[in-house]
Amino acid sequence: MKNRVLIIGSGGREHALAWRMAQSASVATTFVAPGNAGTAQERGVENVVLDTADFDAVINFCRIQNVSLVVVGPEQPLVDGMVDALSQAGIACFGPKAAAARLEGSKAFTKQFMIDHGIPTADYAEFTDLTKALDYLSRCEYPQVIKADGLAAGKGVVIVDDEQQAITVATDMLSDNKFGSAGNRIVVEEFLHGEEASYIVISDGKYFIPMVTSQDHKARDDGDQGPNTGGMGAYSPAPVVTEDIAQKIISQVIKPTLKGMAETEPFVGFLYAGVMINNGEVKVLEFNVRMGDPETQPIMMRLKSDLDKLCLAAVNGELSQQQIQWDQRPALGVVMAAGGYPESYDKGAIIHGLPLQQTDVKVFHAGTALDNQQLVTAGGRVLCVCAVGDDLSQAREKAYAGVQAINWQDVYYRTDIGHRAL
Ligand code: AMP
Ligand code: GLY
Repeated sequence: MKNRVLIIGSGGREHALAWRMAQSASVATTFVAPGNAGTAQERGVENVVLDTADFDAVINFCRIQNVSLVVVGPEQPLVDGMVDALSQAGIACFGPKAAAARLEGSKAFTKQFMIDHGIPTADYAEFTDLTKALDYLSRCEYPQVIKADGLAAGKGVVIVDDEQQAITVATDMLSDNKFGSAGNRIVVEEFLHGEEASYIVISDGKYFIPMVTSQDHKARDDGDQGPNTGGMGAYSPAPVVTEDIAQKIISQVIKPTLKGMAETEPFVGFLYAGVMINNGEVKVLEFNVRMGDPETQPIMMRLKSDLDKLCLAAVNGELSQQQIQWDQRPALGVVMAAGGYPESYDKGAIIHGLPLQQTDVKVFHAGTALDNQQLVTAGGRVLCVCAVGDDLSQAREKAYAGVQAINWQDVYYRTDIGHRAL
């Protein structure tokens, strides 16, 4: 019998996962809940209307539809225990359980975990009390980085250049509750210089296989300027992650993390280490317990192996029997966003120019919807136009040719995705 897979989420990451999943020979149907207009139109993919925060509803759907594998895209349901609930109900669910998802769900937990396991990271202090935090901040050298402990949809990290700014941010988080319960505890961290990269592996709790390397562009504007966003584009491979750096990340970060987690809750799923590389040294900035968005999009463009087999093997602790094959060609994705993102932006603009007719180019949807058969914007990050090429600059040319064929009112995108690698 062929597999029936359910993917949880609605972003560009989930469109890319669903698109790749639907190409697996062993997969009959790929459901996405709730999905977006891109997954609605994808061959072999079906959107489902489900309250994904209601785990019983998800379990019911899986039973009725004979779903053989669930893949959770975003962090929130992982931190909330979706994998715990589904596995208890006997449903194969790919991703870390809640106790392992703390690697993303609590910065304070993760910093302590890294100290305990000798994993290189920035020096830090942790506070729940504003007076103590302010006292500490009066003695710091700047810049420093202030992080809300919990999940804050990518907005919980602020780089502060002086004490005045630090006081404002710490007060917002600890006293004025501007970050909700995520900010009841803060981590104040030394500012690290260098170049960032993402290193992602798939893990079955014991054994892991690295994904191809990737790098995203977090800043909104060209030249890596402007406010931080979820990511304005990404490419793979990331030349900054040389073979030597990759070996360091594996031996100093990935292996001790998986070994440390196995002592309490083995980490199953995609483990994403965000690292700063400086003079050949690696330090961990953050862990994510899922694939990155938009890193997933170029990575899935390059994945040749069946995604369902990899995920099922991870759930069953059999990853060591799997191999992973990649397209050797580089891939690059450009995010097309609604003007105003990451602050307020309009929705409902009509998107012109799709579908594209270009080869080696794939458009992944994020914030899109169908309004009377008309494709419209429905979020901040709207599309991610991805291409593979013989080299990175060709991938970039093809991706931007795709971008130029698409338009809507107030569209915004960076024109320099990949600049660090070229
Ligand atoms: P995080 O969610 O902790 O990765 O933080 C989001 C972004 O903030 C990172 O991708 C970095 O660009 C920046 N960042 C976080 N921590 C530091 C740090 N210690 N030094 C410099 N930049 C940082
Ligand atoms: N692109 C960074 C992330 O997904 O967190």
